[in-house]
Amino acid sequence: MPAKVIVFANQKGGTGKSTSTYNLGVSLAQKNRKVLLIDLDPQASLTICAGLEPYNYENNIVTLLQGSQNPSECIQSIKPNLSIITSIIDLAGLEIALTARTMRELILKKALKQIQADYAYILIDCPPQLSILTINALSAADYVLIPSKTDYLSYRGIELLLETISVTQQECNEDLKILGVIATMYEQKIQDCRDVLSALEKNYNVLAVTKKLSIVNKGLYDGKAVIEQSENNQIAVAYNQVADYILKNCEV
Ligand SMILES: Nc1ncnc2c1ncn2[C@@H]1O[C@H](COP(=O)(O)OP(=O)(O)OP(=O)(O)O)[C@@H](O)[C@H]1O
Ligand SMILES: [Mg+2]
Repeated sequence: MPAKVIVFANQKGGTGKSTSTYNLGVSLAQKNRKVLLIDLDPQASLTICAGLEPYNYENNIVTLLQGSQNPSECIQSIKPNLSIITSIIDLAGLEIALTARTMRELILKKALKQIQADYAYILIDCPPQLSILTINALSAADYVLIPSKTDYLSYRGIELLLETISVTQQECNEDLKILGVIATMYEQKIQDCRDVLSALEKNYNVLAVTKKLSIVNKGLYDGKAVIEQSENNQIAVAYNQVADYILKNCEV
């Protein structure tokens, strides 16, 4: 069976997309699934989360999207069961070139066809814009997961993403499904956070809530996911819960 492709998207910046992609990748890998992470953001945050330096890899997401004949040259192995296609700032330049190509929405989907059989899951971290890169990710995906902060502007931002998902479903990927929302950086003491979490839970399928905890940033210097630092911290429990949901709902 080809890998299930799960995209982490939200056009708002700083909602926990890269953190969620990395921690879920580590969790699924620990649960014995072969996982490929794809960093589709020129900021290369997912690459950095994984403990890699973007400029160290000559073959990366840019090479893949330019039509590499040998996509496996773009893949770096980082842990047992876990590999990554890194990003680099040059992706921003390629993005402009992509907009002039025919079938430009389907470039990533076509590239993934050659490697999809080697993995159980491919997790794609999107940039914080509804750009041609995000459309490529949504067009290649089976599922979309939406990390959202528990503040009002993030909540309102989801509506915009849902419109883009709907257009993608109509135009180029009728099988795309929304898996749910991960509510991130929750602060129980703040009334606005509590109100927004209630609204998220009322209107969307909230798969987990991560509290705002400094432990997230501790592991960033050496590529350690939160769930590798301690299995019992609240964020690890939340991401493991989402991984179990994925195993239960995406493998059928
Ligand atoms: N649960 C959490 N508690 C505290 N800090 C967090 C938590 N989740 C993520 N962060 C931090 O918040 C910041 C934004 O997270 P992240 O980079 O994952 O968001 P993003 O949506 O990928 O951002 P961008 O839109 O820039 O790509 C990072 O510094 C990250 O370490
Ligand atoms: Mg990011």
